[in-house]
Amino acid sequence: MTKTIAVLPGDGIGPEIIAEAVKVLETLQNDFGLAVQLEPGLVGGAAIDATGYPLPADTLELVKKADAVLLGAVGGAKWERLPIARRPEKGLLGLRSELELFANLRPALLFSELANASTLKPEIVAGLDILIVRELTGGIYFGQPRGIRTLDNGERQGFNTLVYSESEIERIARVAFESAEKRQKRLCSVDKANVLEATEFWREIVTRVSQDYPNVQLTHMYVDNAAMQLVRAPKQFDVIVTTNMFGDILSDLASQLTGSIGMLPSASLDANNKGMYEPIHGSAPDIAGQNIANPLATILSLAMMLRYSLNQPELATTVENAVSQVLRDGLRTKDIQEPGQNTVSTREMGEAVVAALRAK
Ligand code: IPM
Ligand code: MG
Repeated sequence: MTKTIAVLPGDGIGPEIIAEAVKVLETLQNDFGLAVQLEPGLVGGAAIDATGYPLPADTLELVKKADAVLLGAVGGAKWERLPIARRPEKGLLGLRSELELFANLRPALLFSELANASTLKPEIVAGLDILIVRELTGGIYFGQPRGIRTLDNGERQGFNTLVYSESEIERIARVAFESAEKRQKRLCSVDKANVLEATEFWREIVTRVSQDYPNVQLTHMYVDNAAMQLVRAPKQFDVIVTTNMFGDILSDLASQLTGSIGMLPSASLDANNKGMYEPIHGSAPDIAGQNIANPLATILSLAMMLRYSLNQPELATTVENAVSQVLRDGLRTKDIQEPGQNTVSTREMGEAVVAALRAK
């Protein structure tokens, strides 16, 4: 049966990297018999410019009907002066909450070809394979009340609320334990339980849920220590589960262990594995339109889509192998370039992946 994929390029480098992932998808359609139909949609600044809203009703209808969503990135200087509630980022957050994509999987995997691209010593990162499971529809990103107010004494004050209910913690914990069961069976829950009650509660619930997963070794770590440990000895981690904001921060950090944020894909899943797939990097306005962005994180996100939402694990591996192949062949976009290496453009990288697929 033909599956529908909503394709939302968004802003900045979004359209450039999505164009390369679409070439890969088309190759899978034409040469590998993948039955999918692509439906384009607007989100973020592109949607604001066209309709006034970061997540227009048409787009919402499209993504709700689709089997999976492929997203580029949102945001840029042009829309930074809008109130937070009307910014491009609200389009992305709206997609996550409207589709109830509470489980964000962010693998930080080092391709052996890129061991020298990391700013850390190769022996610290060689063989690195971490999965960050980030809670995506709760916590301080969505907590109420929030806003900017004026107090009785006339002073202005900004405020947000960090709140997690038991069911929210329990369901993300289960995703993390189940992921750990398929890997090295080690789960580290990251919190700030020494200061924040909401995460003291997080620790309590994760510990309770752990009783259902006796094969998984659970540890807890404060987020400040986790940030340090990720740089000091990252290979101690297998799966990390954490809150929305801590996951946002730690996944950017983890990306640098692998050489470049341009390499890291993500999957955001609901309870039924319907998902949205996007690179973890943003819209990178500073390099937009220059044909130099790395499309591999988006292409690897597509591989995650094949695995989690389209039930095509073999094709997923085929795409991942094609990415390894182009790296082995020495192709490097600017972000993963090492001294003495030539760089290729966004399009050349995408086309090389397509060629590697066709050579299979
Ligand atoms: C991410 C991004 C987003 C987030 C932004 C663009 C809203 O940084 O996906 O990590 O904070 O979640
Ligand atoms: Mg982020």
